[in-house]
Amino acid sequence: MRMASSNPILVTTSHGAKQEIRNKAKHYASEHGLQYISRRKIGDLNTLSSKNCIYVFSQEKILSIVHKGGELFFHPSVAKIRMLNICKGQPDHLIDSLSLNRDSNVLDTTLGLGTEALLIAAFAQKGSVTALEQSEHISEVVRFGLREYRFRERWMADAASRIEVVNRSFKDYLQETPEKSFDVVYCDPMFERPKAKSSSINALRPFASHELPSENDIVQMIRVAARRVVFKVRKTDRLFHSLLSLGFSTRERSSSDILFLVAEST
Ligand SMILES: C[S@@+](CC[C@H](N)C(=O)[O-])C[C@H]1O[C@@H](n2cnc3c(N)ncnc32)[C@H](O)[C@@H]1O
Repeated sequence: MRMASSNPILVTTSHGAKQEIRNKAKHYASEHGLQYISRRKIGDLNTLSSKNCIYVFSQEKILSIVHKGGELFFHPSVAKIRMLNICKGQPDHLIDSLSLNRDSNVLDTTLGLGTEALLIAAFAQKGSVTALEQSEHISEVVRFGLREYRFRERWMADAASRIEVVNRSFKDYLQETPEKSFDVVYCDPMFERPKAKSSSINALRPFASHELPSENDIVQMIRVAARRVVFKVRKTDRLFHSLLSLGFSTRERSSSDILFLVAEST
């Protein structure tokens, strides 16, 4: 049986889920060799989640993972508001650092909850985003979310449809990717010193990979990017200093301890 954080995975639905949702959950369980349990047979989800990781299918959250550390589900989050602000002429440090064209094809090496992938796809209206995620659980939640979330705006739905989620580590993926395959490569690894206040990242923390990119990974990113590589880093992390020594720099004049560092490809 597939496991998450050493806990067995069970599949169920929300209370009173429609037949269509129940069928989807059963189908998912049988396709992945997981145990399906009718929600009526589950008393308290929180009690069950102390020993299990529960995949819950529902109309509202599509696929959420309930586990003893909390609940993980997809939400477009701040992607929409950030895009609307950009349209009003406000700066966005990520978009400014990426220096995208409308048709850029971008490799997001660290999908996470997909917020930034969604913003990038919304900005590069004719482009595409290939988004890598090492955690099988995070990629499943976000892949379902991007595919089935009922976006109110057509441009958000269109952006989501141009993101391809790939459940792989950038460490392997980059080795197999020919040089200059993407216009821009973006990397936002987990911070070495977590920001306690970041509640959205807290939800994915139990499943996320905390491994840092090695110097070779960074060199590979520069090789597969035709134009530039952008990293989001915290000044207090060791990665910040490694990137500076590899020629990354920033034009940001911000007092924040989180920065976007850029290296142009040659
Ligand atoms: C800080 S989060 C990214 C947040 C993302 N930018 C967003 O907008 O939601 C980092 C993510 O990268 C993933 N990750 C870490 N190492 C990875 C690797 N080697 N390959 C692919 N994904 C990785 C983690 O599992 C985590 O989900």
